[in-house]
Amino acid sequence: MRLLKRGRLSLLFGLTLVLGSVWMLSLLNELRTDGSLTYGWWEYTDVDGGPEKQCNCSAILQGETEALEEAKLLTLSEDFQKSVEIPDEYYINAAKDCRNFKLSRKYFTFPLSKEEEEFPLAFSMVVHHKVQNFERLLRAIYAPQNIYCVHVDKKSETSVFAAIMAITSCFPNVFMVRRPVSVVYAAWPRVQADLNCMADLYNASTEWKYFINVCGQDFPLKTNLEMVRMLRSLKGRNSMESEQMPAEKKWRVTNVHQLVNGQIQGIGKQKEPPPFNLPIFSGNAYIVVSRGYIRSVLEDDRIQTLIEWAKDTYSPDEFLWATIQRIPGVPGSTRPNRKYDMTDMNAVARLVKWQGHEGPQDSLDAVYSECHGNHVREICVYGAGDLRWIIAQHHLFANKFDIDTDPIAIYCLEKYLRQKVLAELH
Ligand SMILES: *[C@@H]1O[C@H](CO)[C@@H](O)[C@H](O)[C@H]1NC(C)=O
Ligand SMILES: *[C@@H]1O[C@H](CO)[C@@H](O)[C@H](O)[C@H]1NC(C)=O
Repeated sequence: MRLLKRGRLSLLFGLTLVLGSVWMLSLLNELRTDGSLTYGWWEYTDVDGGPEKQCNCSAILQGETEALEEAKLLTLSEDFQKSVEIPDEYYINAAKDCRNFKLSRKYFTFPLSKEEEEFPLAFSMVVHHKVQNFERLLRAIYAPQNIYCVHVDKKSETSVFAAIMAITSCFPNVFMVRRPVSVVYAAWPRVQADLNCMADLYNASTEWKYFINVCGQDFPLKTNLEMVRMLRSLKGRNSMESEQMPAEKKWRVTNVHQLVNGQIQGIGKQKEPPPFNLPIFSGNAYIVVSRGYIRSVLEDDRIQTLIEWAKDTYSPDEFLWATIQRIPGVPGSTRPNRKYDMTDMNAVARLVKWQGHEGPQDSLDAVYSECHGNHVREICVYGAGDLRWIIAQHHLFANKFDIDTDPIAIYCLEKYLRQKVLAELH
C-alpha cells in the first residue's frame, strides 16, 4: 500500500481534532497499529474490487476504444455477469457486523470538511430490488452529516427488504420510511413514496438545507463537496426540469385514471381542471429542492389541494414537482412565465439519455450521442462507453445504471468519484 505523506497525515489528524471525534481517533489508531494507515487506504483498490477489477478504468473514462472493447466483451460473458452477482443473504449477514461492514466497504464515517458538515443534505431513496445497486449508490453518496430515507416497495421480496433493512440499521442517519407503499409504474403511489420520505426527513431533522430524491438506478456524478458547492451557488433556488406541457402529453391530466389489477388505466372520464387554474408544467420525477420547497409541499394548502387533484392522473411524478416549482410563493420557485422554463439538460437534478434524442455527433436534432448500453422504456441504461460523456456533464446524478447491464460502468464511476474525494482532501 501507498505510504502516507506527512502532510496528508497531519491533515487527517487536524480534521480529527477539529471534529473532536473520539471514535475517529481510535479508528485512525487502529489503522495505524495494523500498519495500514494511509491516505490511500480510503481508495478503492483492486483488493476491494470484485471481478470488475480486470478493467482499466482510466482508459475507459478517457474513452479509449481498446479498453472499451475489452470491457464490452467482459460484460457480455455469462461467467462474468454471474460472478458480479451478490445474493441478498450476503448483505443480511455482512451487515450484522456493522463496524466491519462499514470498514470493509470503506464508508466515510466522519465529515470530510467543515463546509460539508455545515451544509447537510436530505436524500429520499426509492428502491424495489437489486440490493447491490442500492448499496453501491448509498456508499457513493453517504456522509454522516446527511440524512437518508429509504423507501422499499411494499411488494418487494422479503430478502430484499431484510437486506436493505440490515444495511440501513448500520447507520444512525439512514432510516426506513415509516409508511411504505406499493409503487405502480406511472401511477400516484410513486409520488406518495417520495412524499412519505419527505415528511419523515422534514420531521427527523431541522438541519438539512437541500432535498434530493434518487432511485436504485441512479448514480452520482459529483462528490458530496461538489454537490454542496453547486447547491450553495443556487442560493435557495430549486433545480429541476419544468417546461410547458407538450400538447401530446395533455391527456395525462385531462382524463381520470384508476388502478386496475395493479396497472394504471384511463376510465373514459374527463377530469376537472386543476385547482386555482394552476398551469400544469412538464418535468420528471427527480428534483433538487430547498428545505422551503419541501415545507410548502407538506404544509401549503394550495399544494394539498393540487395533490388531491393529481391522484387520478397519469404519471403525476412527471408534472407535480414541475408544477409546484412554478407556484408563486413556493421557496426557490420561478414564475410560470415561459422564459423561466428549464429543460432536464439545464437543470442539475438528473442526466437522462432518452432514446428519441440520441443521434450522431453532427446531427442538429440530436441532444446526445447514441447509448452504449441498452434501452429500458426508451431510456439508456449506460454502458462503460457512455462514461466519458457522462462525467463531463454538470448534473449531480445520472439515470440509469444497472449492475446487470454494465457493472463496469458503475465500477469505474465509483472509483473515479472516490479518487476525486481523496484529491479534495489535499
Ligand atoms: C490503463 O490505461 C492508461 C491510459 O491509457 C494507461 O496509461 C495505463 O498504462 C493502463 N494501465 C494498465 C495496467 O494497462
Ligand atoms: C416528528 O414527529 C413526532 C411524532 O409525530 C413529533 O413528536 C416530533 O416532535 C416531530 N419532530 C419534528 C422535528 O418535527
